Amino acid sequence: MNMDNNYDLIINSPGRINIIGEHTDYNNGFVLPTAIDKKITFKFRKNQEDNSCHVKSLDFDKSFTFDLQKIAESDTQWENYILGVIFEIQQLTNKLAGFDCEFSSDIPIGSGISSSAALECGLAYGLNELFDLQLTKLQIVELSQRAEHNYVGTKCGIMDQFASVMSKEGHVILLDCQSLVATYVPINIAPYKLLLLNTNVSHNLASGEYNTRRQQCEEGVAVIQKKYADVTSLRDVSMDMLREFKLDLLDVVYDRCMYVVQEKERTLNAVKALKTSDLKALGDLMYQTHDGLQNLYEVSCKELDFLVDFSKEYDQVVGARVMGGGFGGCTINLIHQDAVADFTKEVSEAYFNAFEIKLSSFEAMPSGGTNIE
Ligand code: GLA
Repeated sequence: MNMDNNYDLIINSPGRINIIGEHTDYNNGFVLPTAIDKKITFKFRKNQEDNSCHVKSLDFDKSFTFDLQKIAESDTQWENYILGVIFEIQQLTNKLAGFDCEFSSDIPIGSGISSSAALECGLAYGLNELFDLQLTKLQIVELSQRAEHNYVGTKCGIMDQFASVMSKEGHVILLDCQSLVATYVPINIAPYKLLLLNTNVSHNLASGEYNTRRQQCEEGVAVIQKKYADVTSLRDVSMDMLREFKLDLLDVVYDRCMYVVQEKERTLNAVKALKTSDLKALGDLMYQTHDGLQNLYEVSCKELDFLVDFSKEYDQVVGARVMGGGFGGCTINLIHQDAVADFTKEVSEAYFNAFEIKLSSFEAMPSGGTNIE
């Protein structure tokens, strides 16, 4: 296959950050993400074949070919992100024909910035353009989420795909994951910055533990529903209601539910803080979220806890927490711009001394969603 020239279409598909509202999307709560300036760039062209498609990852120098009439799960996990999207698009349209696609990325994999959603959504967005499929952006978001459920096996919420496609430059999205109503909130945090510290660890628990968390939340809802028939998710549960079930729920289920119920409130309070530029309050909420993710939801790890604890010693970091699914990846830090260089240097040294792992860091720039170049 010769893929080096004559592409018809170039698509940029970004990763995302999330200010607050973690592990709430699949509980119908609120999230506050935005796309950032790290992205996957795809090139597409029709190849004049009826069913044969070629996809290549330039970074890994890996490619594969598949037949549109024989889409099935692969033993190679990254191929499932692609095949899952193709499967879902064909279910909706059955209008694809042979194409070639190559892509390269500057989103660090396994770092909680959702390179997976960027991959799914960029592919879906590009094929929608290339074959004029007339899918809406929301259909692209939802089919990409289904691809992750059905082919990759992670029962993710909708935050990552929504942020990757729907973001607007200079804003975060307050997304109500129940109604899918998105409110765009300007992010004016100067002279503060959003600094990401990447632990460069990705504990392999992620997908299995993620699905377990989701199940535990559903278990909690099932018990609460026996008394409150109208409750369909933790969105409908207040702290007072939850306390009534303290003795009926396993301790671990109670803790998971408590975290989610509290995080729902924190996210709405964070929006108020952002709107009034009360960054101290916003930072406090981020620290509280980390505490909940560490102790109640138990999706942190020692490397992430180390970074958050270290930041607490630094006055000019007003908030920090694990971001994304957890078990590794990045912390997100709200930090005064004057302190970025010194803090990064000190935390990197301390981290290396503690774990013999190099930390990487970058400033996240909120940006727009998937676009055609
Ligand atoms: C992953 C999932 C999202 C969300 C986060 C945790 O990134 O893909 O849907 O649940 O974890 O907030």
